[in-house]
Amino acid sequence: MTTSKASGSFPSDFQWGVATSAYQIEGAASEDGRGPSIWDTFSHTPGKVVEGHTGDVACDHYHRLEEDLDLIASLGVNSYRFSVAWPRVLPTGRLPLNPQGLDFYDRMVDGLCARGIRPHVTLYHWDLPQALHDEGGWARTDTVHRFADYAELVARRLGDRVESIATFNEPWVVATLGYEKGIFAPGLTNRRLAMQVSHHLLMAHGLAVRALRAVAPRVQLGIVLNLSPSYPARPTAADRAKAHLEDGLGVRWYMDPLFRGSYPQDVLEHLGADAPIVRPEELRLIQEPIDFLGINYYMRNFIHAEDPQAKPPGEQGFTDMGWEVFPQGLTALLTRLARDYRLPPLSITENGAAFADRLEDDAVHDTKRVRYLEQHIAALAAAREQGVDVRGYFAWSFMDNFEWASGYLKRFGLVYVDFDTQRRVLKDSALWYRDFIAAQRPWQ
Ligand code: NOJ
Repeated sequence: MTTSKASGSFPSDFQWGVATSAYQIEGAASEDGRGPSIWDTFSHTPGKVVEGHTGDVACDHYHRLEEDLDLIASLGVNSYRFSVAWPRVLPTGRLPLNPQGLDFYDRMVDGLCARGIRPHVTLYHWDLPQALHDEGGWARTDTVHRFADYAELVARRLGDRVESIATFNEPWVVATLGYEKGIFAPGLTNRRLAMQVSHHLLMAHGLAVRALRAVAPRVQLGIVLNLSPSYPARPTAADRAKAHLEDGLGVRWYMDPLFRGSYPQDVLEHLGADAPIVRPEELRLIQEPIDFLGINYYMRNFIHAEDPQAKPPGEQGFTDMGWEVFPQGLTALLTRLARDYRLPPLSITENGAAFADRLEDDAVHDTKRVRYLEQHIAALAAAREQGVDVRGYFAWSFMDNFEWASGYLKRFGLVYVDFDTQRRVLKDSALWYRDFIAAQRPWQ
């Protein structure tokens, strides 16, 4: 499949964007009244993040807002996805409000609008206020209500100018990596708790959508899920069954309650005593209608019944995260979702790759990233040609940033960041993306 074919099939109002999240880029961790989040605590705990990296400074975006907005604008994107840091707006997670925190996002939204870029807000990209966590955090339904309050507050201030609001980014990662595997904040290892947390996150999503709808009726509301198709490593019954279960835990566990009103029965049985406590009215809440579903796509799962480390063939290579490059999985995922669910319009809210970039004479020749983006945009175009209603694509990420437990060692940016000097340099992928987007609207 060629890029020219892909470029022919996108309408002029297609959302072309780049994405970031607050903790990964902002820095200014204790400035202007910001409270601590669970990621401050986690990253400051020895042994949790590689080389002890933290988000204290990150890309110093908080102090370089205008410069960064100019850089985003220079890419020619018409959309930008960023997250609001709950602890900046509400330092303890609940009132009183920190006006300076909300002012920052107000300047962001104004700055984007002034540059002709539509703002796409995510309310929760993993930075739970530490004070709420200390009171029980996502284990408690009180946090569900605090989240809806926070959502409403943000929408009252920004809702007149933003294009979309997503409640949560990747609830599977929050629940499973944060509460079961312990590799992300808050670093717990309790599957029963993780499953209850996943249910509370979905409840918080539904309650927030109701609150948001009331105060920002014109904003597109949705949620962002990380979805990977699961492929059996071999054509055996055992590998197929395991792949189906993996799909249940990663895809159907979130898609079914959101769009069908129930958790998948096979997964509930698999979890047994670790299944969450769920009341019928909570399932109705989770099913609250939304205007878009955001999908973050990076790779497939390759499932071997006996060997959890089984390596996929990697015919198109691997990224610096060790993730297999598998663009056809995106087409397969999208067409399958459209077949299995009654969906709102979709958006690819993240897609991208880490590679070991090197700055050479003020340039970064990241040909592998260019290829990755090209292949995935083509895969998205193929799904659209098969009738899947996808309306946006956001490259992850605008710039190199704090890659969670991998710290600053993994670079996902289209823009290179020298973390010693905070200098930004457009990589070849940024130039390619700029030219690709420009080719979509030849009349401008
Ligand atoms: C998904 C997450 O939303 C984002 O924060 C992260 O940096 C990328 N995946 C890459 O791992």
